[in-house]
Amino acid sequence: MGYHETYQAAQNDPEKFWLEAAEAIAWVKKPTRALNDSNAPLYEWYSDGVMNTCYNALDRHVEAGRGDQIAVIHDSPMTQSSHEITYAEMLTRVASLAGALKAKGVGKGDRVLIYMPMIPEALEAMLACARIGAIHSVVFGGFAAHELAVRIDDATPKAIIAASCGLEPGRVIHYKPLIDGAIEIATHKPDFCVIFQREQEVAKIGPRDVDWHAFQYGVDPAACEPMMGSDPLYILYTSGTTGQPKGVIRANGGHAVALHWTMKNIYNVEPGDVFWAASDVGWVVGHSYICYGPLIYGATTIVFEGKPVGTPDAGTFWRVIEQHKVTSFFTAPTAFRAIKREDPEGKLVKDYDLSSLKALYLAGERADSDTIIWAQNQLKVPVIDHWWQTETGYAVAAIPLGLEALPVKLGSPGVPMPGYDVQVLGDDGHPLPNGELGAVVIKLPLPPGTLPGLWNAEDRFKSSYLTAFPGYYETGDAGMIDDDGYIYIMARTDDVINVAGHRLSTGAMEEVLSGHPDVAECAVIGVADALKGQLAFGFLCLNAGCVKDHGEIVAECVQLVREKIGPVAAFKLATVVERLPKTRSGKVLRGTMANIADGTDWKMPATIDDPIILDEITVALRAMGYAGQN
Ligand code: COA
Ligand code: AMP
Repeated sequence: MGYHETYQAAQNDPEKFWLEAAEAIAWVKKPTRALNDSNAPLYEWYSDGVMNTCYNALDRHVEAGRGDQIAVIHDSPMTQSSHEITYAEMLTRVASLAGALKAKGVGKGDRVLIYMPMIPEALEAMLACARIGAIHSVVFGGFAAHELAVRIDDATPKAIIAASCGLEPGRVIHYKPLIDGAIEIATHKPDFCVIFQREQEVAKIGPRDVDWHAFQYGVDPAACEPMMGSDPLYILYTSGTTGQPKGVIRANGGHAVALHWTMKNIYNVEPGDVFWAASDVGWVVGHSYICYGPLIYGATTIVFEGKPVGTPDAGTFWRVIEQHKVTSFFTAPTAFRAIKREDPEGKLVKDYDLSSLKALYLAGERADSDTIIWAQNQLKVPVIDHWWQTETGYAVAAIPLGLEALPVKLGSPGVPMPGYDVQVLGDDGHPLPNGELGAVVIKLPLPPGTLPGLWNAEDRFKSSYLTAFPGYYETGDAGMIDDDGYIYIMARTDDVINVAGHRLSTGAMEEVLSGHPDVAECAVIGVADALKGQLAFGFLCLNAGCVKDHGEIVAECVQLVREKIGPVAAFKLATVVERLPKTRSGKVLRGTMANIADGTDWKMPATIDDPIILDEITVALRAMGYAGQN
């Protein structure tokens, strides 16, 4: 069946379509029905099926005689090392870690927070939780202690699993003090922390901590806990409009079915192929396509610890593809923009044999045509932009290469995937004609694998996603659909920005900036950036009578966001203004500010030390009658 027939089959009889897809998964007890809509508009999938995600990712491949196949390749330019782990070895390691967690009282439904860099142990920790039915919540290493504390208080984990350190170019990220600091700030205190000591830094172990290896000593490996299809597998926090992140829940059954389905139908992967998602386990791409998708499908996954440029050079990605014979490669457009900037003519590409590569997939942010064309010319394989969100867990729109190699249209991440009825609505909730820009929504119910709700926040789930357009899930993206059914994603409709493929809340940054003693009022907007897609830009109104140097205040604010949210916010641009543009009711006109900022001729690199750019934006604002001095 081609794309159109498959899409239609899922529309016409979703029960049949998704029960058939569920056949690809090993169940302890098969589900008798796919969708449970008894509590609509909250939906569950495979709620009477019983299974275990870790069993599907590891045990069943070993039982099928494929234990010697490589499950995970760790490639770390940061430590200049590369090693391989078979499915059988992964199973032994995961069962042992799971047994040790169980022996310390972690069980079904308990939360475990994972704070780890890109090492195989991060996947082992996730799978060990899945094995015993504990709900993991992985936090990206670029978040600071305060953000970690917010997540600890929301998820109330029984344990934290962490590494001693992460490695960024030129510096070691000391994880242990970050975790200790977070626990200090948090109201909830976990029972214990498991620390994986890396060679690059051995952390000091405190009374609450246990050593990763030592606590597994002499403990029986754990068996797989039978889980209901609708039992949560993980919580992944993502940015919303406020400083309080949203805890997206992912349930076991639908997740396993959907990811398995995507591996062949979207990515055209075969078991045993090498699938590489150059992302981080702290993001949804890392959850779905570094850890669960490839392993559930029996492929080989690469855990890559490094950057596309500078470690050692802009040929790193090509080296990894050649060395490990990668067939499918997935990353964010930012990474390609970074490579293109360093090596515009693609001189380094020619040094490597990339013949194993069948396709490149891009997601996480809008892919600009220049980047796509450059990648097509260099790699000479299909370049597939696809659109999804933490909430959906996998692609809403794509070109499903395994189903049908539909034509790629520049600027569009493709057509809706089976199960997703994507529509564009106007402010009044009515469908808009093709080609008109509006709110991109998905008709309920969403397909299996998507979020059934937010952790501890049913009301927020309903108000954030289900209220503005009753009967639909509101994606928060604005866009349009063309006459061929291709979707175009143009912008966010909320205060979320996308920096280097990382989703960030301007509201959270505003909350931090408001905490500066001299700041009376502030607004943060996203401004266009040639490398990272967007950058956050802060406008600060100071308290009356404040005579402190503006440069000093800006520098302090930059430092404050780094301390409270973390380096990942990449917040480096801010300016002092006399007042903010507001509506009569006092609402800050962020859209107006962003348009002005985008209209100014600002070029990269821009930093707070680049007064011309700040001046341009401030002058433009002043010309519009909004900004004051400085
Ligand atoms: N732990 C600690 N700090 C981290 C971190 C981590 N896991 N990841 C990033 N940071 C830090 C960086 O070191 C940087 O710090 P600095 O301000 O001191 O330089 C800051 O957070 C901003 O990071 P980033 O925006 O990623 O910028 P960068 O200059 O380090 O790298 C790219 C730029 C384009 C190379 C990189 O963002 C990239 O490869 N992105 C695309 C891939 C991706 O991961 N996408 C995610 C979703 S698919
Ligand atoms: P995240 O939840 O971090 O994956 O971010 C999801 C958001 O990133 C989406 O709502 C979009 O705004 C944006 N996004 C992701 N993929 C794409 C894409 N292919 N094209 C345009 N925007 C994208």
